[in-house]
Amino acid sequence: MLPKPTLILAIESSCDDTAAALVRDRKVLSNCIANQKIHEAYGGVVPELASRAHQSKIIPVVHQALAEANIDKNDLTAIAYTQGPGLLGSLLVGSAFAKSLALSLKVPLIPINHMQGHLLVHFIEEEGINTPEFPFLGVTVSGGHTQLVKVNSHFEMELLGTTLDDAIGEAFDKCGKQMGLNYPSGPEIDKLAQKGDPHKFEFPIPKVEGYDVSYSGVKTAFTNFISNQKQKDSNFVTNNLEDLCASLQYTLVQIILKKIEQVAKAFSLNQVVIGGGVAANSELRKQLMSRQKSHQWAVYLPPLKYTTDNAAMIGIAAYYKFLNKEYGTFSDASESRLNY
Ligand code: KG4
Ligand code: ZN
Repeated sequence: MLPKPTLILAIESSCDDTAAALVRDRKVLSNCIANQKIHEAYGGVVPELASRAHQSKIIPVVHQALAEANIDKNDLTAIAYTQGPGLLGSLLVGSAFAKSLALSLKVPLIPINHMQGHLLVHFIEEEGINTPEFPFLGVTVSGGHTQLVKVNSHFEMELLGTTLDDAIGEAFDKCGKQMGLNYPSGPEIDKLAQKGDPHKFEFPIPKVEGYDVSYSGVKTAFTNFISNQKQKDSNFVTNNLEDLCASLQYTLVQIILKKIEQVAKAFSLNQVVIGGGVAANSELRKQLMSRQKSHQWAVYLPPLKYTTDNAAMIGIAAYYKFLNKEYGTFSDASESRLNY
């Protein structure tokens, strides 16, 4: 007799997306996300509003995930949730929900590290996803993190380098705000950059020792450049928007690419595995793919639907925890900072 498949309901609520997914073994049956539009008006995520929005969205999004997967909650094998890192108030909504449901259904509870989830999406069994072999170089690029990690096994990850200040996604968003773009502006900068000249304006690439990166210098240089130009021509941004986006994007991508090259060489890792919201960026994807040949790398890019925060990544990570019987307890605390 074949072993019974595992059926995991996963909840992700670390920032401003309320997400639920159903994962059967390594396959994703449903992957639902309720975005919180409310933050757009503030130009960034407002933590208190995020946790309130999670409270109102979590039940509908879980219902939607169960319905789309055509699964009855009584058939669930385990409940997984994001333990951290993230905004504490947001994390607490997901963990309280997951704990109550696990308690009432009498099934195991599985807490997951959000950053590990971003990298483990490459283990989902689905057309278009190739799974890397251990060890590999994992790179997480998001609104809150920019990390280079040596991944030895599903849950043995060594942090090699990180940002000393802003995350790459934060740099996209903050510079976008300077240009009057809506939050989060990464996707819009990417779109506008398609028609711009990446070499029209030059911004500095910081020299950071070791395997860390820094993004605050570019952000400051970009902000100062724009305000100086605006003093000479009030329409400077509008008249140069596409070139500004292309030049900014080029610089932000070059910073992480140079570190990836350095770390891959130093640790003899030729599989480069990307995760996180900025993994959707077309310039980053293009530059990485072109290095498959020139650097003899195998590059693993997630499908776009698994780049920004989602619960499928929590579900696949939980599947491997479930196989090892690594369950959590009801007293596990949510952690705004959580190491690998
Ligand atoms: O992983 P994610 O959804 O949330 C965090 O854990 O932070 O990443 C969100 C970030 C935002 O900063 C957003 O601007 C950025 O990912 N982003 C992009 C693109 N799509 C999303 N940045 C550049 N180009 C994109 N196409
Ligand atoms: Zn994320």
